[in-house]
Amino acid sequence: MSSRAYKIAVLPGDGIGVEIVPQGIKCLDAVGARLGIAFEYTEALVGGAAIDAVGVPLPDDTLSLSMQSDAVFFGAVGGAKWDNLQPVSMRPEPGGLFPLRKALGAYANLRPVVVFESLISASSLKPDRMEGGLDILFVRELTGGIYFGKPKERREVDGETVAIDTCSYSDFEIRRIAHMAFLQARRRRGIVHSVDKANVMETSRLWREVVTEVAEQYPDVTLTNMLADNCGMQLLRDPKQFDVILADNLFGDLLTDEAAMLAGSLGMLPSASVGEQHGGLYEPIHGSAPDIAGQDKANPIATILTAAMMLRYACECPDGAVMIRSAVESVLDDGYRTVDIATPGCDVVSCSKMGDLVAQRI
Ligand code: IPM
Ligand code: MG
Repeated sequence: MSSRAYKIAVLPGDGIGVEIVPQGIKCLDAVGARLGIAFEYTEALVGGAAIDAVGVPLPDDTLSLSMQSDAVFFGAVGGAKWDNLQPVSMRPEPGGLFPLRKALGAYANLRPVVVFESLISASSLKPDRMEGGLDILFVRELTGGIYFGKPKERREVDGETVAIDTCSYSDFEIRRIAHMAFLQARRRRGIVHSVDKANVMETSRLWREVVTEVAEQYPDVTLTNMLADNCGMQLLRDPKQFDVILADNLFGDLLTDEAAMLAGSLGMLPSASVGEQHGGLYEPIHGSAPDIAGQDKANPIATILTAAMMLRYACECPDGAVMIRSAVESVLDDGYRTVDIATPGCDVVSCSKMGDLVAQRI
């Protein structure tokens, strides 16, 4: 194992972010203790917490700390309190999270959807749809598309208020995320479904053209171009047909929330956002969940599995990632559940207790 200390920027953010991030850290420390890896954590403000403290959602200190770190471990941002700030760039998501993703060059958002055997009954789907296991990897483009396109504004036109969002993608942006999807598929079951609305959108037509062209370099991988609405339906009809799903920023966002319900809860899905210049941004796919914040009842498993992804991608420690996964599996097998995945007869535990249980088993 590496002898150097990994520099981790810790950005808990808002809402349940401050409750789940410490659970991930507990598990990282447990792995560190077992494998002799040192982590050097530095905490910084982001989102609403940063707005309240220093007036901006992404303070310069936070950005430079993040850029200089080996990885950024991120909780969640946002909440009603900051939803109406003007200009919009002062709000937690467009002013904090998005510029951070962009600055780190984290264009590839990897979101694995894995159903733990003992949680099949917590899924909203009939168990037979998932029996034998489900293992999908979403590869979501993260720094382009409608989230970032300009103009993004409101105008008065002939006495009416018109809102405009622009969706734009370059062939370069599509090509690099497509390569990521094919490379991932090559290490898995060799199937890529690329999602678009090529029947409606120009960006989708370019997306399909470029992805199809990139596919020629991966003769060992099968590509299917699928319309996004159909993909939404297929995920519920027959999720086991999927291996890697490649999607743009918006479709990837929507479809991963849907897919989270296959895994039982939004609180189960981790993610890694990676690029070429930096070790990456590691965040659970869910948000700050203001409705349950401060009650120690959020599910920290998404964050704990996110820590595992960080070990794998930023800290050259696949063994640690496997340890975390097995520990989560064993805690679930023993019937411990946070309230979002509770089933009759299980042992309902708090967020911090779940963190303790997983860390102890590491
Ligand atoms: C996600 C989240 C964010 C996104 C929100 C919080 C802006 O939903 O990472 O999936 O849409 O990217
Ligand atoms: Mg989302």
